[in-house]
Amino acid sequence: MPPTTDQLHTFLDVATEAALAAGVILQDYLGNLAEIEDKGRPGDLVTEADRAAEAAILKVLDRHVPDHTILAEESGQLGNLNSQYLWAIDPLDGTTNYAHQYPVSAVSVGLMIDGIPQVGVIFDPFRQELFRAAKGLGATRNRRPMQVSETTELEKSLLVSGFAYDRRQTIDTNYAEFCYLTHLTQGVRRSGSAALDLAYVACGRFDGYWERGLSPWDITAGVAILEEAGGKVTAYDGSPLQISSGRILATNGQIHGSLSQELQRVPPLATWADSSRLTDSAQGML
Ligand code: IPD
Ligand code: CA
Ligand code: CA
Repeated sequence: MPPTTDQLHTFLDVATEAALAAGVILQDYLGNLAEIEDKGRPGDLVTEADRAAEAAILKVLDRHVPDHTILAEESGQLGNLNSQYLWAIDPLDGTTNYAHQYPVSAVSVGLMIDGIPQVGVIFDPFRQELFRAAKGLGATRNRRPMQVSETTELEKSLLVSGFAYDRRQTIDTNYAEFCYLTHLTQGVRRSGSAALDLAYVACGRFDGYWERGLSPWDITAGVAILEEAGGKVTAYDGSPLQISSGRILATNGQIHGSLSQELQRVPPLATWADSSRLTDSAQGML
């Protein structure tokens, strides 16, 4: 059964309570970490802040929605595994930034209903920015309505992406895409927090975002928020998003087609040493 409007309001409030509780913990631990552990892959870290923030979120969910399924980054799948409701939570998205005291990270609490992201809260405790949305209820930043940018041309866009932790173990990286799109747009950023990347597309700071190697907890909240803010989310080729594929193309909608087209045209990285990719004046310096 689809959720009622009242239920969506309730779930949004629960997600907000959980994200704010985790945010307080992240603020307390920043710069005061005693434990930073490697999860196996180079750069994939977990800290006591990740664990404490996740425990705070689980406590809130257990109090309000004890019969729902939970997929939490540090604890895995929990609760009633047959529920139509699945909470995908990342207590600290941007752990590498956080471990270095670079304050670009956020809490991400998303809810899928029947497999579709429908509620999302992303809280950045360092800028005190709260991004929220539920299907049909609109998207807000600090409780004010927000929407995606109106940029229509790729040449005028600012994009963002990220590099997955398996980047040293695979040739399937997005390095070539990053270079190629850097030359086609006004710039490509790499923030280190997929949740904030999606939230920033939703509020118009970025025009588009693509990335591979993601997990459902990285993007469920952001997908719900971005779609409600007027954005578009698909696979790279424009087909429907499969959350578990780990690959996402998320834009303001206006540049979606051209970004999707360019992503499918990216030449191999090796050709970036080719001087034909330089402007005439740069070629003159060779
Ligand atoms: C990571 C961040 C990063 C993205 C990685 C994610 P974590 O999450 O979202 O931006 O590039 O793929 O795993 O490990 O900081 O929660
Ligand atoms: Ca994450
Ligand atoms: Ca995390």
